[in-house]
Amino acid sequence: MRDAAPNTIYLSDYSPFGFLVDSVHLTFDLAPHATRVTSRIAFRPNPQATDRTFFLHGEELKLIRASIDGAEITPDVTDKGLTASVPDAPFVWEAEVEIDPGNNTALEGLYMSNGMYCTQCEAEGFRKITFYPDRPDVMSTFTVRINGDLPVLLSNGNPTGKGEGWAEWTDPWPKPAYLFALVAGELLAHSDSFTTLSGRHVDLNLWVRPGDEGKCAFGMEALKRSMKWDEDVYGREYDLDVFNIVAVDDFNMGAMENKGLNIFNSSAVLASPETSTDANFERIEAIIAHEYFHNWTGNRITCRDWFQLCLKEGLTVFRDAQFTSDMRSAPVKRIHDVIDLRARQFPEDNGPLSHPVRPESFQEINNFYTATVYEKGAEVIGMLKTLVGDDAYSKALDLYFERHDGQACTIEDWLKVFEDTTGRDLAQFKRWYSQSGTPRVKVEEDWADGTFTLTLSQSTPPTPGQPEKLPQVIPVAVGLLGPNGDEVRGTEVLELTEARQNFTFEGLATRPVASILRGFSAPVILDHDRPNAERAFLLAHDTDPFNRWEAGRTLAQDTLLRMITQDAAPDAEYLDGLLAVLRDADLDPAYRALMLGLPTQSELAAALHEQGETPDPMAIWRAVETLRQATAQHMQDLLPRLHSEALVDSPYSPDAEQAGKRALGSAALALTTRLDGGAMAAEVYAKADNMTLQLSALSCLLRAGKGQSELAAFYDQWHDDRLVLDKWFGLQASLAAPDDAPRIARTLSEHPDFNWKNPNRFRALIGGLAMNHAGFHHAGGASYALLADWLIRLDPVNPQTTARMCTAFQTWKRYDADRQDLIRTQLSRIAETPNLSRDTTEMISRILG
Ligand code: PHE
Ligand code: ZN
Repeated sequence: MRDAAPNTIYLSDYSPFGFLVDSVHLTFDLAPHATRVTSRIAFRPNPQATDRTFFLHGEELKLIRASIDGAEITPDVTDKGLTASVPDAPFVWEAEVEIDPGNNTALEGLYMSNGMYCTQCEAEGFRKITFYPDRPDVMSTFTVRINGDLPVLLSNGNPTGKGEGWAEWTDPWPKPAYLFALVAGELLAHSDSFTTLSGRHVDLNLWVRPGDEGKCAFGMEALKRSMKWDEDVYGREYDLDVFNIVAVDDFNMGAMENKGLNIFNSSAVLASPETSTDANFERIEAIIAHEYFHNWTGNRITCRDWFQLCLKEGLTVFRDAQFTSDMRSAPVKRIHDVIDLRARQFPEDNGPLSHPVRPESFQEINNFYTATVYEKGAEVIGMLKTLVGDDAYSKALDLYFERHDGQACTIEDWLKVFEDTTGRDLAQFKRWYSQSGTPRVKVEEDWADGTFTLTLSQSTPPTPGQPEKLPQVIPVAVGLLGPNGDEVRGTEVLELTEARQNFTFEGLATRPVASILRGFSAPVILDHDRPNAERAFLLAHDTDPFNRWEAGRTLAQDTLLRMITQDAAPDAEYLDGLLAVLRDADLDPAYRALMLGLPTQSELAAALHEQGETPDPMAIWRAVETLRQATAQHMQDLLPRLHSEALVDSPYSPDAEQAGKRALGSAALALTTRLDGGAMAAEVYAKADNMTLQLSALSCLLRAGKGQSELAAFYDQWHDDRLVLDKWFGLQASLAAPDDAPRIARTLSEHPDFNWKNPNRFRALIGGLAMNHAGFHHAGGASYALLADWLIRLDPVNPQTTARMCTAFQTWKRYDADRQDLIRTQLSRIAETPNLSRDTTEMISRILG
């Protein structure tokens, strides 16, 4: 679909750059408002290319001088870059530019954070550092000299020289410019080392601001575990003499895999028991692994163009999920991932921002670092592995690394290694990359003469630009249970490839209960109208831990929907089933804690919308409150036992076992708070010696409309710790009662500690409000207006973070006409703001539809 937008870029327009780059030499003379960057780049005509236009990207650069083969030239410069006429033979380009890192608030290119210089170049930030063909298919080796009066001067690769006020780094591995990085500042190292499989000694450093030294140990251990795991499981070894990680406070995303110099949002690496929750530790371990794994899936093999982003991101998310499953509990990890997919990817895939895992057009690539590219991209790889089997997956990956090392690749290259190793035709499977929207799989059952028949049909609703869908290859893992709960057929993967298909199971003595989509074998929405008694049976007996959890989830959702639409009472089958599972002390505490979870209020709104009803946020909120209260009462007698099972008497460790106990304890505390008015939570808060307990107790109190003195004490204790203060902001916004939320959020936005230019702080408060479903959708529209005010204010400062936060409005068409009007007014107000960034313009226009 070719739209009128002039800035749209299309996958189908790809053509290679007219020149190859043999080497890049950069010299940085650092100064906060006038950094000089001198580049010496060896170009040569690209025999693969027909177009020899010499265009170098460059934005917000002051060109001081430029030369070709030593002769000064005056190129044509626009606000996007420059063109020059060049020889039809190898030549050396030199340029000197001046940039202003001190005023770079967008946090893209070279910028400053607390006096420290740092860079962010993915996706197109390098063009804000110097003139360059800033596209991922242009790969080169880099040598970097940094001149600056700071103790620590870092760049990619290995250190190759150092003196008073300067350092030189050489990266022997060809890389695209988006993997370039530079850091300079007064930093301290937490150091260690790792010896690779083939005996290479690697120095490991985690660089932090003075004062943060005590928060490094966990990240370092996670890095070593990641390095070992990638050797053990994928046979991938590290390839430089040093691996540096830097923590920075001002960062738009989680972290960045720059070659040999990963840069992390401090929230994604700094951890201590006093300041970080178990969930923070788990996330940090996963992000460290993710960025490290990119060294092979992303850096050694990179993307040909940004449409192929899922080539590196989907695969690397898949790999980090495998790592977490191995380090912790595989079922718990799988359930976490599905909760996350439903919370973030499903709303995207079923609303105005829906796009394929491999998009075909964009205006601003920063808007496509999405849950669809990352998380659905990882699901697609999981399905591929399920379909071909573990051995074939390993062989295909070996071939991928062997065939494509050093290249910039496409999804076609990726699928071809699977076709070549398995002989399988993946043409239909490829639709997972090109069709957007979440497939619905409808299940019908039939039983006759010892034969059980499953009829599966698939359909995908229309999504922007894609009115018609073709059937996809959907692996549906199925097992059958007999009447006493025994498995009469073990897990088998059915391949649903047509719009409608029958699968039969013969020779059964009695009608089985089917456990369908085990392990969530495909990212689809299952439509299976079955009696609640069967769901309760699966909740009690399913041998697949994911589907056992899912049975409870489905029962919970079903009762909530009936409470909302029919004023029904909480369902006894759900409450009894839940009680039985929670009573089973043989089950992992972490798993039991997950069982106590409920679908989010936003998911319930989506489910109502799907049924053709208009969701009322207050009715949803009340139903959830009622069900929680009923659950607390139903479990009353069990709660003391859960609290004692959840007790940890050894010193704090963030490991899965302890974390699971604390998760169960927190879930039980939330229920207890509904019965004792917060007495126990106040006690837990007073005694807590770690952030997990402190925060869970405080959350319970706030949810009960209490905890004001604890909140004040929390501020006094932690106001100097920026990551903990983010929690203080986030908690109040996300847990405020619906009627209080807009006022509380507005008051907090006037708090002197609301440093809104810091993305973490902005996300904590404004994102926290957006997560408070009933508070965000407050009837008067006060929260909508507050969000819009802040988006308008942040946009000129930091377009990338502004554009991401616009997604809070993506589900607006689910709601009633009054709310739609209120939101439309805010969206139009944002759209009409003069000089709105390209990032936000694209997001708002897509959301408006
Ligand atoms: N490539 C990073 C990752 O997934 C994410 C990122 C994208 C960071 C763009 C910064 C900017 O690991
Ligand atoms: Zn990544």
